Amino acid sequence: MKILALESSCDETAVAIIEDGHLLSSVVSSQIDIHRRFGGVVPEIAARNHLEIIDKIVESSLEEAHMTLDNIDVFASTMGPGLVGSLLVGLSFAKAMALSTSKPFIGINHLFGHVYANFLKYPFLRPPFMVLLVSGGHTEILVLRDWDKIELIGKTRDDAAGEAFDKIARLLELGYPGGPAIQKAAMKGEVLYHFPRPLQEKGNFDFSFSGLKTSVLYFLRKNPSASVNDVAASAQEAIVDSLVTKAFDAAGNSGLNEIAFAGGVASNSLLRDRAEKLSEETGVRVYFPPVDLCTDNAAMIAMVAYEKAKRGLFSPLSTNAVPYLSLDVF
Ligand code: KG4
Ligand code: ZN
Repeated sequence: MKILALESSCDETAVAIIEDGHLLSSVVSSQIDIHRRFGGVVPEIAARNHLEIIDKIVESSLEEAHMTLDNIDVFASTMGPGLVGSLLVGLSFAKAMALSTSKPFIGINHLFGHVYANFLKYPFLRPPFMVLLVSGGHTEILVLRDWDKIELIGKTRDDAAGEAFDKIARLLELGYPGGPAIQKAAMKGEVLYHFPRPLQEKGNFDFSFSGLKTSVLYFLRKNPSASVNDVAASAQEAIVDSLVTKAFDAAGNSGLNEIAFAGGVASNSLLRDRAEKLSEETGVRVYFPPVDLCTDNAAMIAMVAYEKAKRGLFSPLSTNAVPYLSLDVF
């Protein structure tokens, strides 16, 4: 079964083709350079840019897989959550391809996609396992109970982890996106300052990152000559410490001995090192998608589509974009 999937929920235009769960092509065009000067994604500009290039990205992906549209058996696209204008571009394009070739269409939940990125690297992995989903919009501890069922264990009460990286990078004038910029600066700095790790009571699996941002802001006002690299290293330490400690506590609490990481922040090298170290200490196994499949891509969307297609879970062409699509929807 050959599946072509589209992903356009935020600022990446992505197309992938898989055959029976094996990746044949994954093309990602990032708009980062366009949005950088605004310090974040501008939704209207993102949607317009998706529209301008989506047909070319589909063509590149078909070329990479040595295929034409007629070879594709199923078309899929992210239907949410995400920016509505951006979502509509990929969704409408996928539905149009399905209609014109008389092939089925499947709408995909982007959050399942991030979790499923792990199956591209670890095809032997099977639910149930713990998941730490950390991206620009999401910070959640989850259990993938079954292929189609995600259980929420804890989540952020305010900012997402990626959002914290982005906002602190802005305070430090390190540019956008903040995660990679902070990681780079932190490598040249030292963890000299202690920033807060809230909600530390045992059994509390929620996160809060807005206080950290404020704490960095006040620190910089009081210490204008502090080294940016040291502050970056200390802030990264606080975020990663919170994330990893809670993920392992949740695994211990639930009796699951596998944690899969997902989302853009899962590409962070300190997070990976810390998780590997705790894995050795506790015996809980950890899984990380390749760095380029942590951030938004269509290969992960195609993997969800494959599991849905095998179960005959196709979507009607009346399927609409759902900006706040929840974890309950497979
Ligand atoms: O998953 P993603 O590409 O998009 C969303 O669905 O949100 O995640 C983007 C987020 C951004 O906030 C970015 O700063 C963060 O992931 N990020 C990182 C790293 N690379 C990307 N955060 C920390 N360290 C990184 N190396
Ligand atoms: Zn994402």
